Amino acid sequence: MQDKQKKAAAVGTVAAPARPIDARHFRTVLGNVPTGVVAVTATGSEQEPVGMIVGSFTSVSLNPPLVSFLADSLSSTQAKLQAAGRFCVNVLAADQERLCRKLAARGSARFDGVRWAPSALGNPVIEGIVAWIDCTIDTVIEIGDHHLIVGRVRELHTVSDRTPLLFFRGSYGDYLSNADRLLDRLLDWR
Ligand SMILES: Cc1cc2nc3c(=O)[nH]c(=O)nc-3n(C[C@H](O)[C@H](O)[C@H](O)COP(=O)(O)O)c2cc1C
Repeated sequence: MQDKQKKAAAVGTVAAPARPIDARHFRTVLGNVPTGVVAVTATGSEQEPVGMIVGSFTSVSLNPPLVSFLADSLSSTQAKLQAAGRFCVNVLAADQERLCRKLAARGSARFDGVRWAPSALGNPVIEGIVAWIDCTIDTVIEIGDHHLIVGRVRELHTVSDRTPLLFFRGSYGDYLSNADRLLDRLLDWR
């Protein structure tokens, strides 16, 4: 048994040939993994709303309640989120693609015309979303060219039964439940 374990460990340590990975190829292959789309928001030094669209959001731990996302180290918004020491995760609804594109665009006009109200922590909660998760920043870890930002959940709510906005192979989409797909097949709509 011990020998087997040693052998497995030895196989695991065989170094893969150091081949550079092409950035476009990396993005294309990783684009096969569908993600949710959330807007991570806070307020800046003048109490103005700040935020960015994130596909890397995930829950981390129930006890203590932790969630996380990965932010590009070069993102100016992630620096503002870190300075605020808190953030709110706004889970976007499938009919909020336009809002998503606006919040992902470069520049300072991201929140122009966007309706929101402050959470108890002071983070923007955007109108029309599916759910929100309000956090204080617990831990920040530098990984490669990103920061893993871990939030301690302080309050969270589902506010709508709309379906969430999804991102897959470079496009936005809506969630179709198995029942929807079954109906499609039965009625031969495809
Ligand atoms: C669907 C989608 C998912 C994204 N996911 C992430 C992400 O997980 N992390 C990240 O740093 N940027 C992500 N971005 C890019 C940011 O939304 C945004 O472009 C970036 O914050 C712009 O940099 P700035 O904050 O300096 O303005 C994503 C963009 C889109 C459209």
